[in-house]
Amino acid sequence: MGKLLIANWKMNPKKESEALTLARASDASHVVICPPFPFIATAGKALKKAKLGSQDLFYEASGPYTGEVSSEELKSMGVSYVILGHSDRRRLFGEIDEIIAKKVSAALLNGITPILCVGETFADRETNQTFAVLDRQLKMVLSQLPAGTKEELIICYEPVWAISTNLKEGMEPPTAENIAQVVEYLKSIVGNSGVSVSFIYGGSVNSTDLKSYLDIPGISGALVGAASLKPVEFKKMIKIAK
Ligand code: PGA
Repeated sequence: MGKLLIANWKMNPKKESEALTLARASDASHVVICPPFPFIATAGKALKKAKLGSQDLFYEASGPYTGEVSSEELKSMGVSYVILGHSDRRRLFGEIDEIIAKKVSAALLNGITPILCVGETFADRETNQTFAVLDRQLKMVLSQLPAGTKEELIICYEPVWAISTNLKEGMEPPTAENIAQVVEYLKSIVGNSGVSVSFIYGGSVNSTDLKSYLDIPGISGALVGAASLKPVEFKKMIKIAK
């Protein structure tokens, strides 16, 4: 199949030795591993086939930004992808669309492929705001793309309510039709803005349902959180996505 799997480890694991073991177990082509910052170097050295990703970056190049990490710094560590606009960052760290747009630009200008996460919350969905939210999230980024961008932009449709830690009992993740509809909508927003875009899906993806997501027209990969921390499970997913 040759589809892309992005492993978002979030703030896991707790120790460098565990990160090393996990990175080695997840090393395969068409895989991007996004460890927490302290383990970027360790994971980077362990990966022979997979690519290295980051879970965030700051848009300035250098300077007095305590606690932040720039795209140049990440690039020098071998990072070639970055997750931006994840709902954890939007919800817990106050990241608004303007900030995310600047981060996407900084990544593109430094040759790092942004994985832009967009998606509605449960409340947005309940109040029929899904398309309005997606519209706002994507248009802000597109309006600030550096002129003549040649790099690819990956857009991850990740409904916030469908993320494994948010999905309530009895709730079903979105259907293939829902996702296909959203991808069509997002494509129509991108239109002929000139940027090369691909779409992936995220939200409680595991080895049981991965194939059904990857089979959706227009979907070329998946963003995987919890399941990427389980080596046996993730290996199964790698085989399916191949
Ligand atoms: P999940 O996380 O696969 O555990 O739902 C995905 C994500 O939040 O990136």
